[in-house]
Parts: sequence; C-alpha cells; structure tokens
Amino acid sequence: MSKNFYISTAISYTNGPPHIGHTYEVIAADVIARFHRLKGEDVFFLTGTDEHGLKVKQKAREENITPQELSNELSLKFIELTKTFNCSNDDFIRTTEERHKRSVKEIWSLMEKNGDIYLGQYSGWYSIRDEAYYGEEELKKDKEGNFLSPYGGRVEWVEEESYFFRLSKYQNRLLKFYDEDPDFISPVGRMNEVKNFVSSGLKDISISRKKLNWGIPVEKDPEHSIYVWVDALTNYLSALDWQNEGKSYKDFWPVDLHLIGKDIVRFHGVYWPAFLMSANLALPKRIFCHGFILNKGEKISKSLGNTSDPFQLVKDYGVDQLRYFLMRETPFGNDGNYSHELITNRVNADLANDLGNLAQRILTMVWRNCDSKIPKVAQLKDNDKLLLESIPNLYEKLGDLMKNYQISIYISSIFEVISLTNKYISNEKPWELNINNQPRMYTVLWVACEMLRNITILLQPILVSSSSDLLDALGISEKKRSFKNLGDKDLLQYGTKIPEPKIIFPKLEL
Ligand code: ME8
Ligand code: MG
Repeated sequence: MSKNFYISTAISYTNGPPHIGHTYEVIAADVIARFHRLKGEDVFFLTGTDEHGLKVKQKAREENITPQELSNELSLKFIELTKTFNCSNDDFIRTTEERHKRSVKEIWSLMEKNGDIYLGQYSGWYSIRDEAYYGEEELKKDKEGNFLSPYGGRVEWVEEESYFFRLSKYQNRLLKFYDEDPDFISPVGRMNEVKNFVSSGLKDISISRKKLNWGIPVEKDPEHSIYVWVDALTNYLSALDWQNEGKSYKDFWPVDLHLIGKDIVRFHGVYWPAFLMSANLALPKRIFCHGFILNKGEKISKSLGNTSDPFQLVKDYGVDQLRYFLMRETPFGNDGNYSHELITNRVNADLANDLGNLAQRILTMVWRNCDSKIPKVAQLKDNDKLLLESIPNLYEKLGDLMKNYQISIYISSIFEVISLTNKYISNEKPWELNINNQPRMYTVLWVACEMLRNITILLQPILVSSSSDLLDALGISEKKRSFKNLGDKDLLQYGTKIPEPKIIFPKLEL
C-alpha cells in the first residue's frame, strides 16, 4: 500500500484579489505535493478561500455589493491563480459551501459536548485585518497614539455578549504536546514564539460575534455567528468529508502538513490543536511557516517586476520562471524580496545559462551528430561512472531536504550537479571527439543525456511544463518520469528518436 500525504495551504480571505504572497504559498505547496506524488505517494492537496467575517463584510460594503457576491467574484480569481500557476490541488474549498458549514456546526457541537463552550461577556481589542483578539500588552501604538495589532492593523474596542472557548484548560496539554514533538512547528523560531505565547498563560477566547450577519450561525443562538477562525480552520476537515466519516477523512487525517505564512502561526499552532483536542480528533502532524515576500523599498507600479499582481507577473516572466524564482531565491522559512532585476538575473543565470545551455548543447549535438537518436555507449570510463553515481547520492540528499521543506536548497543541490555536467562536457569536448573519436563522442553524449534525464525528473516539482518539454526532447515517455525511474533503473535506450531541439528557456531582458 502506498503512503498517503495530505498538504494544505491557508485559505485566503476574499477581501481582495490574489497577490504575490498567496502565489508564493500555493506554489510552495504545489512543489511539495508534486514531490510526494513523484515518490509514488497518494497525495491530497487542498487550498481554498475564507469568505466569512468582518473583513470580507467590510470590503463588500465599500464596494456596494453583498459579501456573497464579493466572495463569488474573488474566489474565482483564486481558482484562476491555481490554474495559471499550474498548481495540482485536488480540491478547492470555499467556506460558504454547505459541506463546510455542516462540519463547522459539527465541530462546535463536539466542543460544546465536551464542556468547552460557555456564554459570557467579551470586552477587549479586535483587529478586523487579522480577524483576531489581542491583549492590550500585545499592541503597538502609531504616531497618533492609536493602538495597532502586532502586525500593524487597526484595532477596535469590542464589548458584547459572546460565546467563549475554554482555551485555558488546554495550556498544559499543549505545552506537553510541543515538548513531545519539537518539530511540530518549524522553523524553530516559530515554535519558540508559540511556546512562549502558551506558557505566558492562555485565556479563554471569544468564539462568536453578535449581529455579524456574515458567518455561520450558532445553531441554538443564531444571533451569534461563529468566529471566523473557528470557521476557517475547520476547512481542513470539511474538504475530507469528515462529517460523513468519508473515505478521504479516513485516508488523509491527520494532515501531514499545514503550510502557512508566519503571521498566522498562533491560530494553527495553538487554537487549532486545542479545538481538535476538545473535539477528540487527531492533531496535525506538522506546521511549516513560510516567510513573507516583499517588494522592499520599491514603489509598486504596473511596469515590469514591481507589480504584486500575479497575473501581470506571469505575462512578464512566464509560469515556470516565476515558480523557479520564488522557490529558489529565498531559503524556505525566511522573508524574501522580489524585483525585476532579481527575477531577471536569477532566471538568466540558472535557467537560460546553466540548465538551458546544457540541454541545448547536448540535444543539438545528438540531433546533428547522432542521427537524432540516443547514441550508443562504447565503454564507460571512471569519470563517466563518477558523474552518473552522483544521481543516487543527490536523490538521497533531496529526500532529506524535503523532510524539512528546504525547497531552495533542494534546487541549488540539483544545480550543483548541473554544473558538474557542464564541466564534464567542457572537459570532454564532444565537438572535438566528433572529428577524432566518434565512439567516445557517443558515450559522452549518452552520459550527458542520462544526466539531463535525471536532473529534469528531479526538477519536475518546480518546473512543471518546461521539465515536461525537456523530457519530451529526450524522447522519454510519460510513464517513465517518476522518481522510481531515476538512476540506473531506466537508462536511456540506444536508438530512441529525439525531436528537433528548441530553446526552452529564452533569456529575459534586463
Ligand atoms: O490569513 N508573503 O488569509 P490571508 C507571503 N484567511 N505570504 C503571505 C503574504 C506575503 N506578502 N501575505 C499573506 C488568512 N501571505 C486567513 C487564513 S487559514 C485557516 C485562514 C499568506 O488571505 C498568509 O500568511 O490574509 C497566509 O498564509 C495566506 O497568505 C493567506 O493570507
Ligand atoms: Mg493576511
């Protein structure tokens, strides 16, 4: 039986169109999902939209439309984002769907049955931007003396009747859980942030808003809407048909990885496990917090590279180019920058030069000098074998890196082998061998093609369509592109026809 792997992204608020941050997150999740599929695992990859709450309601009011209309329009944009960037999500959940509403009511009733929900009076600060309650000690002040949330959003004072969740009851269980599983949240800085927050003392939290009118009503008291974070977090269960004990729930829960941005770790690392403990459900296996992508110090403009609109960026640079840049440029977990210059330099240096030229050189020689067929190996020399042996080592290293979601190092490790292969070609000079030692030229070109085959198979999670083009260019059938075909298991066969080589990564203009 193959292993199952469930990965989710955060679900995005439908108060604005997708931006570069959403793009970054869904691409990273896609890379991880594709990596696990290529390993032969059964993957469930979920993304979606978070449509209830004050934030969406407020935006709809500004636009003079209903929150439902706004969400319908914007969720389409988020769906379009996944398609545009070639994301392989298996489902897309919207929190206004019936399947989701049912499961939110169900988790509420389980928490209630467990004695963890009570009616009380809330008074405190609320940030609509974060949809979060904050203690006064957590707030900052702006120049005019207004309180701001730790993430810079405006806060307002709220006093109303509200249902509460007994978060305080779970403080010790949570701390024990973190101690037993120190990798539960990564990077480690985020784990420490969560531990500090919990050990400084957990208060019960308000989990309903009165007269909000844009949320899932509390069943026994419909004047109250369920707090948008209780609502949103439950999406991870709704999409598995949890409330019907569906097959996907049995196959995929608990989730292997919640991929989220660093600003929402408290909800995923504290509230969500506590809700699940209360409902007596298994806890997520891991949470990974990626950093923020910023356009530092540069004015946002519609001209190349400065826009944060992913649909414009894709027109300027291409899908694989952006996937590559975003995944390669910044160590996963850190904050990163982007600009026209950074994207152009990265794409030109790595894709057009290192990988693109390698492929172009090899394939053109095979096309011209080997009758457009994969050539025959005469005899492998030690340096040929050494190069080929780098592949199993590389694959093992990549597996370890992906256990910690180190996508950028995953890529740079492959590019070290690309550079070894480029050196091999420069040393062996097959263009000279063409004149004085054709059997040796055939061997060298076969080794180079074999390296290209392996490198490309490993790059598939990132370069979705261009790796497919490269594998087509090598004449490799669709069925032979997974990780089990790596190394010496499916060596290139002498005589396989290749099509006329085309440039796959054109240079970008600076
Ligand atoms: O937080 N760079 O939704 P959201 C990188 N609905 N990531 C970024 C980013 C940036 N500049 N800006 C935002 C929400 N993100 C909730 C989630 S989950 C049950 C509910 C990330 O639309 C952000 O950290 O504000 C989050 O992971 C995701 O985009 C959606 O953000
Ligand atoms: Mg946000």
